[in-house]
Amino acid sequence: MQTAPIQFEKYQAAREDDLQQRIVAARQKLGDRLVILGHHYQQEGVYKHADYTGDSLKLSRYAAESIAEYIVFLGVHFMAEVADTLSRPEQTVILPDMAAGCSMADMANLSKVERCRRELSEHYDFDALFTPVTYINSAADLKAFCGEHGGIVCTSSNAGKIAEWAFARREKVLFFPDQHLGRWTGYKMGIPIDQMVVWDPDLPLGGLSKEEIDRAKILLWKGHCSVHQMFRPQDIIKFRNEYPDGKVIAHPECNFEVCRQSDYVGSTEYILRTVTEAPAGSKWLVGTELNLVNRLAERMKPENKLVRFMSSIVCECSTMARIDPQHLTWTLENLAENNVVNRIHVSPREAGLAKLALDRMLEVS
Ligand code: 13P
Ligand code: SF4
Repeated sequence: MQTAPIQFEKYQAAREDDLQQRIVAARQKLGDRLVILGHHYQQEGVYKHADYTGDSLKLSRYAAESIAEYIVFLGVHFMAEVADTLSRPEQTVILPDMAAGCSMADMANLSKVERCRRELSEHYDFDALFTPVTYINSAADLKAFCGEHGGIVCTSSNAGKIAEWAFARREKVLFFPDQHLGRWTGYKMGIPIDQMVVWDPDLPLGGLSKEEIDRAKILLWKGHCSVHQMFRPQDIIKFRNEYPDGKVIAHPECNFEVCRQSDYVGSTEYILRTVTEAPAGSKWLVGTELNLVNRLAERMKPENKLVRFMSSIVCECSTMARIDPQHLTWTLENLAENNVVNRIHVSPREAGLAKLALDRMLEVS
């Protein structure tokens, strides 16, 4: 039987140990009607309740394969949208706090991307010349745009393969919204830096001349991650001076110089796997979000591995952090009473086109 939804305010002052017990109790009540998916940047108080954890690609696959009635997503808005797009219509995807967005995803929107296409179409046959590639950190309507225009989605773990797919179809790539992932991917493919130019969506023709676009292989949207932009090459130099035998690993959302000076570059899952499998006693400088690095550092202590955060400034993803035990308890206790709060629902038209671009990605990777 359904009752009126429980209001969130009741949870704000609850004690942490009480919340933890209530999460466990609500999960037991829901049984296999529920699956909880958690991204690696989540705080420990909720991450430990995830049935499956992963990077964006791995979590997309779990969402596509899950048969649970409810998918509670511990992550940010675009991830929950992907889960809704890839799951079946009778499944329900829930994001415990609707304010958990991604500031990078917000740096591109459909009207700006449509304007970019219109401006480019004044000089070129856009659909014949450009493959649009959107990083998974983007809203569903941008994935739909890619679906509609012969494009594709990529994540930090498959961007190389996706770029090869894109160039096999057309001469140029329009990559949004993360210029850093786009540049690093192009660089790894051997594309000269000067053939990757930044498209500023707030300037006419992206602030570029026709000649610059003619020469370019990739147009990189002027977007970035506010967390990963904090890491600096100086942090790497300092670490190498202190630990000459230490290794540096970074996420490809870091700027180009940080990626270039790192020994390894890859997704959150790749970072976890690489450090976990490294020899006991090894030393690591890690350039990605703080929650992941702190958890990894704790886990590696028994093997005497040193895991250090790349910045001296605390840079946590503040939107990922919005998913806390209060919101998770509120969501689950409502579900246990058959009340769905914070449902993420992508409209059928958008979902259909976005799924086209996501399915292309899943097939390629
Ligand atoms: P991953 O897909 O590597 O987990 O990255 C997601 C993200 O938002 C990194 O900032
Ligand atoms: Fe978005 Fe950056 Fe947070 Fe990842 S770390 S979710 S890219 S703001």
